Amino acid sequence: MLRRSRPSIAEAKRRSYAREARKYDQDMDFWERKLFGPEHRRWGCSRAVGDTLEVAIGTGLNLPHYPIDVRLTGIDLTPEMLDVAETRARSLGRDIDLREADAHDLPFARASFDTVICTYAMCSVLDEVKVIGEMDRVLRPGGGLILVDHVRSTVKPLFWLQRIYEFIPSRTKGEYMTRRPALHVVAAGFEIEESDRLGAGVIERLLARKP
Ligand SMILES: C[S@@+](CC[C@H](N)C(=O)[O-])C[C@H]1O[C@@H](n2cnc3c(N)ncnc32)[C@H](O)[C@@H]1O
Repeated sequence: MLRRSRPSIAEAKRRSYAREARKYDQDMDFWERKLFGPEHRRWGCSRAVGDTLEVAIGTGLNLPHYPIDVRLTGIDLTPEMLDVAETRARSLGRDIDLREADAHDLPFARASFDTVICTYAMCSVLDEVKVIGEMDRVLRPGGGLILVDHVRSTVKPLFWLQRIYEFIPSRTKGEYMTRRPALHVVAAGFEIEESDRLGAGVIERLLARKP
C-alpha cells in the first residue's frame, strides 16, 4: 500500500479540495441531512464571541450562523474553497478577513482571539495535536475553543466500518474518520464546558475553555 510523505499528502489534499470546491456545499448538504444532522453549525457558531478565528473555514458554510457582533477571521489551505467563502460572505453582507494559511502554522500572534472554532476539519488536518497547539497559542486566556466534527463511533460495528472506510483516504489524502480531537483538547489543558456525542457517537461537539 502506498503511504505518501507528509508534503505530498498536503498537496494531494489541497488539489482534492480545489477540485471539490464548487460542489462541496451540495455534497456536505447531503451528509448533514442524511448523517451528521444540520443543527451543529448553529450550535457551534452561536457560542462564538468577540474576535473569532474559524480554522479551515472551507466554503464558509458557517457564515450565516454567527452572531452579528463577532469579528470574523477565517483561514483555509485551499484558495478555491476560500473563493466560495468570499462570495458567500459578500452575498450575506458579512465582513470577514479571509486568508490562505495552514492550520499547523497559524499566521497570528499569541493571544489574538477570544474564540477559535473549527467544524468538520479536524478529520482532515495532518497533525491534530499540532493544530490544537496552534489554536491554544492564538487564543486569549479565558477564550473558547469550539469543535464540531465526525469522530469514531461509540457503536463497535460502526467504528469498524469507519476504520475500513478511512483505510485508503487516511494514507493517501490524510482524511480520517476515527479521530477524537476532544482527548487532545483535554490533554492540552483546556476545561471542557459543554460536550455532546450524537448519532451513534459519530458527531462530537464541544466548547472548551483555555484557563
Ligand atoms: C471537510 S472541509 C470542512 C470545511 C468547513 N470547515 C466546513 O465546516 O464545511 C475541510 C477543509 O479543511 C481544509 N484544510 C485541510 N487541511 C488544512 C490545513 N492544514 N490548514 C488549513 N485548512 C486545511 C481544506 O482545504 C477544506 O476546506
